Amino acid sequence: MSTELSDSTAPPPTESASAPTRRTFIATTTVIGGVALASGLAAAPPALATEEGSAAEPPPGSRVSLKVNGVRHTVTVDNRTSLLDLLREHLDLTGAKKGCNAGACGACTVLVDGRRVNSCLTLAVRLEGAEVTTIEGLERGGRLHPLQQAFIEQDAFQCGFCTPGQIVSGTACIAEGHTGSPEEIREWMSGNLCRCGCYLKIVRAVEQTADGK
Ligand code: FES
Ligand code: FES
Repeated sequence: MSTELSDSTAPPPTESASAPTRRTFIATTTVIGGVALASGLAAAPPALATEEGSAAEPPPGSRVSLKVNGVRHTVTVDNRTSLLDLLREHLDLTGAKKGCNAGACGACTVLVDGRRVNSCLTLAVRLEGAEVTTIEGLERGGRLHPLQQAFIEQDAFQCGFCTPGQIVSGTACIAEGHTGSPEEIREWMSGNLCRCGCYLKIVRAVEQTADGK
């Protein structure tokens, strides 16, 4: 069996007299590059367009008409646009937050036809005719929704990043009747994470609102 690979004490191979050293390689390529630049032969950067004068194809878009917080909007969006981006970037409704943008945290929760959804995972173009409710749409005539008020009274937030999603989700949890016990509320609010760990007070706020206190 050959010992060539395992002999760590062997000296490194030396370059033959005719092989180019790193120093001569760099010197040679520098000279060649300089000549090419001087004679205008340097390669141009790759063109973005394949044909002269042709613009890149715009991404496919669609028109969608939907109601958000009772107001009808008709917009043309890239087919890949999420409901969250439609709300935040096209309609300037920034209450729903982009946390994970992957359906894992619930910060983007809104109601679509009364059901809570992760808006980051919902394609806007599929919502033709839908009714969307965001945190901005919960107040009535300048009065906070009872659950918004309960969050304040229970001090159910710290940084507040998760709070819009928690409150929207909480309104659905109450409407669905999943408020029989703190454990049940926890279970049905488990899609909404709070990195500040305010779960105890969030559950109390939902309980308080469900009880009409
Ligand atoms: Fe949508 Fe986290 S941002 S679930
Ligand atoms: Fe900070 Fe919930 S209050 S993440």
